[in-house]
Amino acid sequence: MAAIRVSAPAEAVDAAALWTAGEAVLRGNWREGTRGDGVPFAYTCPAPPRYRHMWHWDSCFHAIAWRLTDAARARAELRTVLRSGRSDGFLPHTVFWDAPAGWRRAPLYATRGVFGDRCTETIGPPLLAFAWELVADASPGDPGFRGEALGELATHMAWLEHHRDPDGDGLLSIVVPDESGLDDSPKYEPAFGRLTHDRVGYALLVERGRRARWDSHALIARHDHHVEDVWLNVAFALSLHAMARLSGDASWTLRATRVEQALLDRCLDERTGLFFDLAGRHERPVRISTWSALSPLALPALPERVRRRLVEQHLLDQRRYGAPVGIPSVSMEEPSFNPGWDRFRTWRGPSWVNTAWLLVPAMRELGYEQAADRVVSSLATAALRDGFREYYQPLTGQGLAARGFGWSTLLLEMVGGPPGIRH
Ligand code: GLC
Repeated sequence: MAAIRVSAPAEAVDAAALWTAGEAVLRGNWREGTRGDGVPFAYTCPAPPRYRHMWHWDSCFHAIAWRLTDAARARAELRTVLRSGRSDGFLPHTVFWDAPAGWRRAPLYATRGVFGDRCTETIGPPLLAFAWELVADASPGDPGFRGEALGELATHMAWLEHHRDPDGDGLLSIVVPDESGLDDSPKYEPAFGRLTHDRVGYALLVERGRRARWDSHALIARHDHHVEDVWLNVAFALSLHAMARLSGDASWTLRATRVEQALLDRCLDERTGLFFDLAGRHERPVRISTWSALSPLALPALPERVRRRLVEQHLLDQRRYGAPVGIPSVSMEEPSFNPGWDRFRTWRGPSWVNTAWLLVPAMRELGYEQAADRVVSSLATAALRDGFREYYQPLTGQGLAARGFGWSTLLLEMVGGPPGIRH
């Protein structure tokens, strides 16, 4: 892996206390066993009782956090993610390993039927190969891990290209908003209208998917509710680059470059310097500034000029993303920005730890050390006070929503200094 440097000297933060609390969250959320059909599983649930299943991108981040303290668990979690899919390369967004979806929520999961399914038929941000490499790097005691899943990972990448890029332009599409993980982000309102994740119309979107047996080509051809999503494609490019390094096969780099070039050619808005999603069959740019519009910063191969502009004109701007705590999920300048708890609507303003973990290394690499330190220490201070929460109020640091939230333990890496790693 091209070195990622997320940590900084954290004098002001009690890193040891944070480590103790973070490890307790990971251990407390760990689940392992064997499903009824004999398939073993081992994963971290994001935050019981609210999030008690396995989510694709959560598990990738959990494994990245686990690798700092217990790499065997990190490997077990990624192997479980791999086992959650189908032999054709499909990997689900949510998997119900040990607990079926609750009767009230089951109809709203994007599953094949209404009750009784083992997983959703939708995808999550495809971070598995990216996480695999990081965990392999932390696994000197299990050298076979690096290469053991290359075939399945390659099939997964091919599934995504085949099923989710019907127009062949290099950008994957999502057919329900939460496939990007950014469930209720205001950026989905222009494309999904009354069918967004937070409205009753979402049930219709799920029902329509069921009727089409989740055939994404058919859904994309028949309806206008789909988006070429910037963040999802950034995740895909990160994984394609990881595939190149894991396999030593340079053709993966070409595939990653194709995605990056498509982001530059089709999503980059020259006027603002932001990257906008393309909505529907006419690929209308969605001019709403959310952290996703900044996420290409996590791609080191993008031109430095483009990346610096994202930092200087957006990330550091105190009217936009330069908040007192973390990196807000929506620009503070947007009319939809809401810094607080918003019933169960997510990604509408608060700061999340995973996005900071993704963007801080780029800030450091480009020399914005002080700003990066500020993002890290503000989140660490909030976590020490309010615990590892789902997200934080960007103006006050108040911890919000779920408690004991798995991927918020990525903060451990950001404050540095693991006490002792078990490989
Ligand atoms: C929330 C988040 C989503 C995450 C899920 C499980 O729905 O919006 O990104 O994957 O919780 O933690």
